[in-house]
Amino acid sequence: MTSFEKEVSEGLLAFPKQLSSKFFYDKKGDALFQEIMGLQEYYLTRCETEIFELHKEFLIKAFDEEKQGFDLIELGAGDGKKTKILLRALLDTNYDFTYKPIDISQNALDGLEESLQKEFPKIVVSPEQGEYFEVLKSLKTSSRRKKVIMVLGSNIGNLLHPRAIEFLKGLRNVLHEQDALFIGFDQKKDPQTILDAYNDSQGVTEAFNKNILTRINDELDGDFDLDAFKHWEVYDPETGTAKSYLVSSYSQTVTINRLGLTIDFEAWESIHTEISQKYDDPIVAWLAEASGLEITASFADSRSYYKNYLFRKKE
Ligand code: AVJ
Repeated sequence: MTSFEKEVSEGLLAFPKQLSSKFFYDKKGDALFQEIMGLQEYYLTRCETEIFELHKEFLIKAFDEEKQGFDLIELGAGDGKKTKILLRALLDTNYDFTYKPIDISQNALDGLEESLQKEFPKIVVSPEQGEYFEVLKSLKTSSRRKKVIMVLGSNIGNLLHPRAIEFLKGLRNVLHEQDALFIGFDQKKDPQTILDAYNDSQGVTEAFNKNILTRINDELDGDFDLDAFKHWEVYDPETGTAKSYLVSSYSQTVTINRLGLTIDFEAWESIHTEISQKYDDPIVAWLAEASGLEITASFADSRSYYKNYLFRKKE
C-alpha cells in the first residue's frame, strides 16, 4: 500500500473526514499552484520575492559570515523562482556553494532541474524527492560542510504548532553550530485579506483543493463528482489558522475501487484538506524557543504581510 492509498482510506473513514494537502502536488496540482502564485489575491509569493530582492546582499552575508562557502538546502523548493534571485546573487559574488532542492513532487523537481540547467549551468544541483519528515533523516548523514537550510513560501504553515515544533526540532538536530536556517512565515493581518488569498475570484484555489479528489479518481479508480463538493475557507483570527474544506452539497456515496471502499457523505458533511497557519513575532519566538533555536534576524516586506526569520541552533 502506498502512503497515498493508506492516508486516503484512513482519512475518509475517519470522523471528521480529512485528506492531507501534501497530496495536492502532482503535475496538475503543481501547475495550479503556480497559477495561484500569480493571482492578485495570493500575496504571499510577491511579498517573499520582495524580501529577497530587498535583502539578498545582507542575507548572503548573514548566511555565511566567514565566507567559507556552504551547501544550500531547500525543503519544498517547488519552481524555485524566489530562490533563483539568491542563486543569481551568489553566482555574481563568485560564491562556493551547491544547491540541493527537495520537494514532494518529482514533477516539480524535474522542471526545476531543467530550468536551472539552462539558466545556471555552473551550479552543482542535487535534487531529492521526499516528504519533510522523511528527508530530515537523510540530511543528518549528509556532508560536514556548512549548511544553510531554507523553508520558503510559508510551507511550514501546513503544520499545526505541535507538528511545526516537531519539524523544527528535526531541523535543529541536523544543524551544526555555524549552520543557518531560513524560514518564511506568513503573518497575521486583516482576516479578509487572508480569506481572499484562499478563495480567489477565478476559482483556481477551488480547483487546486479539488485536485486531491481528481487524484483519487484517476489513481485509485474513484468516482468523486467534483461539482458535488464546495470549496470552503475559514480563518480564525484568534488561532491564526486558515483551514480549507471540501463540503458535500448533498448526501451521496462515493466508491473508490482500488481501495475496495464506499464512502458515505451526509448532506453538508466536510472533508478537511489544508491548514495555512498565520503567525506573529511572539508566536515565532515561542516556536523557536520550544525547538531549541535562536532567532538571529528577521526580514519583512514593505507592508509586513510576511516575514522571513533566520535561526541558528541554540547551545
Ligand atoms: C504552499 C502550503 C504555503 O498554504 O499558502 C495556496 C498552499 N493552498 N493556496 C499555502 C496553498 C491554497 C500554500 N503553501
